Amino acid sequence: MNPKLSLLQPYPFERLRKLFADVTPNPDYRPISLGIGEPKHATPDFLKQALAAALDTGLTTYPATAGEPALREACAAWLQRRYGVSVNPATQVLPVNGSREALFAFAQTVIDPTQPGATLVFPNPFYQIYEGAAFLSGARPHYVASDPARNFAVDWDSVPEAVWAQTQLIFVCSPGNPTGAVMPLDEWKKLFDLSDRFGFVIASDECYSEIYFRDEPPLGGLEAARQLGRTDFKNLLMFTSLSKRSNVPGLRSGFVAGDAELIKPFLLYRTYHGGAMSPAVQAASAAAWNDEAHVVDNRRQYCEKFAQVTPVLAQVLDVSLPDAAFYLWAEVPTVFAGRLPGLTADEAFARELLAQYNVTVLPGSYLAREVAGVNPGKARIRMALVAEPAECLEAARRINAFVFHND
Ligand SMILES: Cc1ncc(COP(=O)(O)O)c(C=O)c1O
Repeated sequence: MNPKLSLLQPYPFERLRKLFADVTPNPDYRPISLGIGEPKHATPDFLKQALAAALDTGLTTYPATAGEPALREACAAWLQRRYGVSVNPATQVLPVNGSREALFAFAQTVIDPTQPGATLVFPNPFYQIYEGAAFLSGARPHYVASDPARNFAVDWDSVPEAVWAQTQLIFVCSPGNPTGAVMPLDEWKKLFDLSDRFGFVIASDECYSEIYFRDEPPLGGLEAARQLGRTDFKNLLMFTSLSKRSNVPGLRSGFVAGDAELIKPFLLYRTYHGGAMSPAVQAASAAAWNDEAHVVDNRRQYCEKFAQVTPVLAQVLDVSLPDAAFYLWAEVPTVFAGRLPGLTADEAFARELLAQYNVTVLPGSYLAREVAGVNPGKARIRMALVAEPAECLEAARRINAFVFHND
């Protein structure tokens, strides 16, 4: 067996199952989960129809890994409308089967493990695929804490020069999971300057870009590059997805765009790995990227939900409306520290909340790693507001009562 497999950490939901194994949820309440970040709003009908209409012809051929021109052109046109960015659909866009597999596969394409100290840098807390991608590519992960005092900005300045010198790839997550923080232009400039100095590649994970709560849409990586005059997108690839934008996590569809010199080897890698997208999925995906009305409506639903739920939770928890994405990343009251022997405050909070009010939240320490004695997720919980507003509001009211009675 590949010995690197043993480096993979249990997934947060596996750890949650273990934490809850001997908990009996209060039967007076029906279960509500804010645990998994899986979109629950309805899939638009036109998208289902586009998929069904493509089935007749869409299953009879092997698709090309590069995807059909119609899909790549739809992706490029969306980038132009959304970010004012021009890319060549033939050389700077590639469809992928969701951003998860693409993020993982890209690390396998980029990392040269024969170089001493090959390093992959990413935020802490983080989406766990980043760490697995590092381990299996033969790179060592370097975790960079986000700073709650600066709207959870990732503390890139904390990375030593010696680490940057060995860095081959970094993952940026903006809007961030779980913090919802959007990276501003000056931070992009900092990363571009570092990339120019040290030669590393930037993979920008932007799958939450269309769920935001303020007037201005989140800045994208390619958009930042364009604003800074980097129109060749050197050493930069953005990863986006329909899962959250169009409520189709089961479709497995996204795309990457950016530096043509990165797309070329990635396409080669994907050809061998078998990363081609089904023609039927391609047809549905092109329809989805070409339509914006459903995205506007989806965003409106999240805005209304967050406007209702956040104030109820803010009465008892240190939490506020994030820049974007569909999570609340809240600090738990100090009273939960040391509450249950052997458990962190966030684990104790999650266990007791399930036992008393039958609501599931994810302990923040499961989404982060301890570095120099500090786990930046410790004493935080992640709440995914993906369910219907009434259900999320009911969960918020129960959490409110829970904190009130346990504080
Ligand atoms: C930060 C982040 N990136 C990527 C993904 C993967 O999404 P998908 O593979 O559905 O595009 C997720 C999914 O939850 C995520 O939270």
